[in-house]
This record gives sequence, structure tokens and C-alpha cells, in this order.
Amino acid sequence: RKSGNEQRNADLGIIGGSGLYEFPGLTDPEEFPVETPYGPPSAPPVVGTVGGRWVAFLARHGTGHRIPPSRIPVRANLYALKALGVTEVVSVSAVGSLREEYAPGHLVVPDQIIDRTRGGRPATFFSSGVVVHVSLADPYCPRLRAALTDAARAAHPTVHPAGTYLCMEGPQFSTRAESQLYRAWGMDVIGMTAQPEAKLAREAELCYAGLSLVTDYDCWHTGHDSVDARTVAEVMAANVIAARAVLSGLAHATAPADCACHHALDGAVLTDPLAAAQV
Ligand code: ADE
Repeated sequence: RKSGNEQRNADLGIIGGSGLYEFPGLTDPEEFPVETPYGPPSAPPVVGTVGGRWVAFLARHGTGHRIPPSRIPVRANLYALKALGVTEVVSVSAVGSLREEYAPGHLVVPDQIIDRTRGGRPATFFSSGVVVHVSLADPYCPRLRAALTDAARAAHPTVHPAGTYLCMEGPQFSTRAESQLYRAWGMDVIGMTAQPEAKLAREAELCYAGLSLVTDYDCWHTGHDSVDARTVAEVMAANVIAARAVLSGLAHATAPADCACHHALDGAVLTDPLAAAQV
């Protein structure tokens, strides 16, 4: 075991959600128990190679799925990946569908997010003394999304290359009225984890894209039972091989690249360090 603070050697980060707790495609996997100023990450990242790329895998809900969405140490997770040298992050998640055409078993690479978390999740790295406003107009990296969509299409028959992800607080699922409201708003999928990951990834100047697997029709669909946790777990388990194939394909097909995401803080810092030092 080496400490991730001593050795940085990954470039692609994968955050595995419900159902994706490990990534057996890694060659020579090694656990890196990284320390961060935000406490430990959800689980120690596991680093190995896939198709010549160095990949760091991190289980978002921890070993044995112990951490609920509201308690995920997102800052520690992204800090840990960045400390390992990661420059782009793919976030895998289970989502409910808010429209007929996005059926259970389909993959979605969302392009937008509506944040309906309730404000209790630490959502910035800049909360004490440095005022930073990054752009979130496109919360997902368009370049990484395109590569991920190509990899998804090569491995899976039904991939939706865009969609708006409504991120709710949870842990309870939505009421039927909420589900219908989100549909009326034009939302496409619903989950509990895209925020503050996307915000923090941008602040950390990491490329970020989501690979969402549709597990259910939430509770709006008259022809389907309302979502329950067991169904989510079963549909994820049935599709985990496909999700891994997508990630492996992405690692094989891509190389680390420069990107506008890596310069997200340019022009975003309002604090004048000289004036602030005089206070
Ligand atoms: N994750 C998977 N299905 C979901 C749903 N219907 N609502 C919120 N999060 C989910």
C-alpha cells in the first residue's frame, strides 16, 4: 500500500454509484488510502491500468453501501482523486426516468442539472476567505461527454446522449406530485448524487461527465410500479457488466487531453490577495 499523497499516478477517475462498487477491469489494482483536508473519501481509491490509461476507481457510497447521498464526502472524494493526479472524472449513477423514451436499462449521458438538494451538502471548496465564482453553464464537460457517449454507444444498444438530471436530496424517493412537477418542468432523469459533485469538480478544474443508468420510472408512470430500492439495486446489478464495458471502452479509446475545464478558475477568483492580507 502506498499513500496517494506520496504518489500521483492516475489520470482518469471513476466514481462508482449504486451497484458499481468495484471495477474488476483494472490491471494490477492497488488501494491508495488518501488523506484529505475534508476527511477520508467514501472509500480508498483503487488505482490500476485499463487499456494503457491509469484509472482511479472510488466507490461513492463506501464499502458495503454505507453512506447515504446526503452524507457523501464529495469534497474529500474529488480532492482524493485530484491528489492522485486525476484530470477527468466519470460519475456513474442509478437514475429514475421522468420520460417514457428513457426506459429502464437505457444509458443516459446528461448535459444539464437542476439542483434540488436542500442546502445541507458542502458545495464549494472556497468557503473561507477566497471568493470564487466558476461558470456552471455547462456543468458537464462537453469533450468528455462526447467521448463517453461514443464509448457507451459501442457497448450498449440504447444510449441517450443528453438529458437534464434533476438532483433531489433524498434519501426518500419523490412523492407522485413532485415526480409530476419535475416532468412538467421538462426534466429527463432524477437521482440523488450529481450535485454537489458537478459543482466541486468544476471548482477543482476537473473534467466531469455522468454515465447514468435508468433503473425505474420513478412514480409518475401509471403502467409501472412506483420505484423502490430493491428494484434500483436489481436493475443496476443486471446492467453492471454493460456499465463496466463502457468505462473500459472509454479508457481504451481516450488519452489525457488538455481542456477548458482545467482552467475553470481563470478569471473566477474575486478576492484580491494583497488587499485581503491588509484586513
Ligand atoms: N435513483 C434511481 N432511481 C431513482 C429515483 N426514482 N429517484 C431518485 N433517485 C433514484
